[in-house]
Amino acid sequence: RRTDFSPAVVIGTGYGAAVTALRLGEAGIPTLMLEMGRLWDTPAGDGNVFSGMLRPDRRSMWLKTRTEAPLASFLWIDVVNRDIERYTGVLDRVDHGDMSVYVGRGVGGGSLVNGAMAVTPKRHYFEEILPSVDADEMYGTYFPRAGAALGVNHIDPEWFETCRSYKYARLSRKHAGKAGLTTTFVPSVYDFDYLRREEAGDVPRSALASEVIYGNNHGKRSLDKTYLPAALGTGNVTIRTLTEVRAIHHQPDGTYRLTVRELDDVGNVVATSEIGTRHLFLGAGSLGSTELLLRARETGALPELNDEVGQCWGTNGNVMLGRANHVWDTTGTVQSGMPALGIDAWDDPEHPVFAEIAPMPAGLELWVSLYLAITKNPERGHFTYDAATDSARLHWTAEQGQPTIDAAKALFDRVNRANGTIYRHDLFGDTRPFENRFTYHPLGGLVLGKATDLYGRVRGYPNLYVTDGSLIPGSTGVNPFVTITALAERNIERVLAEDLRRP
Ligand code: FDA
Repeated sequence: RRTDFSPAVVIGTGYGAAVTALRLGEAGIPTLMLEMGRLWDTPAGDGNVFSGMLRPDRRSMWLKTRTEAPLASFLWIDVVNRDIERYTGVLDRVDHGDMSVYVGRGVGGGSLVNGAMAVTPKRHYFEEILPSVDADEMYGTYFPRAGAALGVNHIDPEWFETCRSYKYARLSRKHAGKAGLTTTFVPSVYDFDYLRREEAGDVPRSALASEVIYGNNHGKRSLDKTYLPAALGTGNVTIRTLTEVRAIHHQPDGTYRLTVRELDDVGNVVATSEIGTRHLFLGAGSLGSTELLLRARETGALPELNDEVGQCWGTNGNVMLGRANHVWDTTGTVQSGMPALGIDAWDDPEHPVFAEIAPMPAGLELWVSLYLAITKNPERGHFTYDAATDSARLHWTAEQGQPTIDAAKALFDRVNRANGTIYRHDLFGDTRPFENRFTYHPLGGLVLGKATDLYGRVRGYPNLYVTDGSLIPGSTGVNPFVTITALAERNIERVLAEDLRRP
């Protein structure tokens, strides 16, 4: 066993982690990032880094032998999933009984696999979920800072009206309009200019080649194109990949000692080592960071952690559904994998819903309008530690998911009534029209002001911080990565000033 030491360690390389590492590096603090996934920068035999969605191979999923795409079937036939070799692929699906959580694995975390929708929450809702955070500061300083560093861009509305890539979105807008609903453009970190050139046939296709959840070979400004190279460019940040943190110990001298596993390409543990640090930042995502602290508390490694560790987890009210279109209402065979429009019914007093108009990027006309809706579900799950498997177990029941379905049904019953359409019942494995047994937006577990102070400092342990989606209490009302990024910017600025730069 060897023990290395780094003044600061950041666990993970997703949004919270990348922000934190950049700002630590700029402040001159040597920082080591530890990421269990791999670095995605080397083309395989087919010339591509990622495998795409229509013919997924071992690069698609984290240590699985069959892909597990969110759309289970079409006409009840499992046409979507494929057998694959076990490999340290880019998308993981973590199953917890009635809830499965999708997460990205690799340098860039969720940014490698997500839909690039870069949405700032409604201010009144942000104030409702995080009342102790100064909203003037967030909307004046940190949301703009995050948006600029993430490379958020907006679609050209004129091009949108005539392009082939978003015919599906224009159709859904028409249907929403008939029901008296309004739609709004969704900012993105996918380069809309690149997309336009894809449609013109000038560049290799990515969003137009159905690439999303197993990685984009082009066009997307994922964190490995934005925050992370900037962090490495400070000369103070290094990233160690295929390195999974398993345990956190507090030393008598106040430093932290991590136990880490080094993995090979197929996930075997090839070595176990230890890393010491003075300032430890958890950016392993809602599931990852929560599990690390829960394990530390329950095994007695960090006994002073409070009872809020593992509480207040939510799905951001995620639910997916499809509507069956009339034969004359075609969506087009070329569909951008990157959504650009949403139905904004968040101010509905009874059932707030923000519904992304999602592509069905199969390359053929399927007469389906697909949606990923975000609803305001007040239910929260919690985690317990399971000693037998040394892991965190999420407690979330099908009943807790019901408010999500009720809200989506209220909205889309309206859309169907206005258009004489019905739901699709063949998309999710059985005949259910609403799929809410998975989430793309896990949030909470180590909530700001509860498990931590108001800047992410873990209660009970100095120099230990949470930086990621686990700080947010289960809901943001929109896709969450802009909120996670902005909150991380806010917190690290304060922590640097008060905890690290102090003489
Ligand atoms: P994030 O999950 O990004 O990163 C955590 C990292 O830590 C991962 O790289 C993981 O491998 C690593 N890690 C975990 N445990 C570890 C350990 N023990 N040791 C070492 N490393 C460890 N959001 C949005 O705003 N717009 C969108 O369009 C979408 N679309 C979307 C699609 C899909 C398919 C998914 C899965 C998700 C989205 N999201 C999204 C959600 C968004 O990607 C998500 O909210 C953020 O990535 C969460 O950022 P975090 O910083 O919390 O961690």
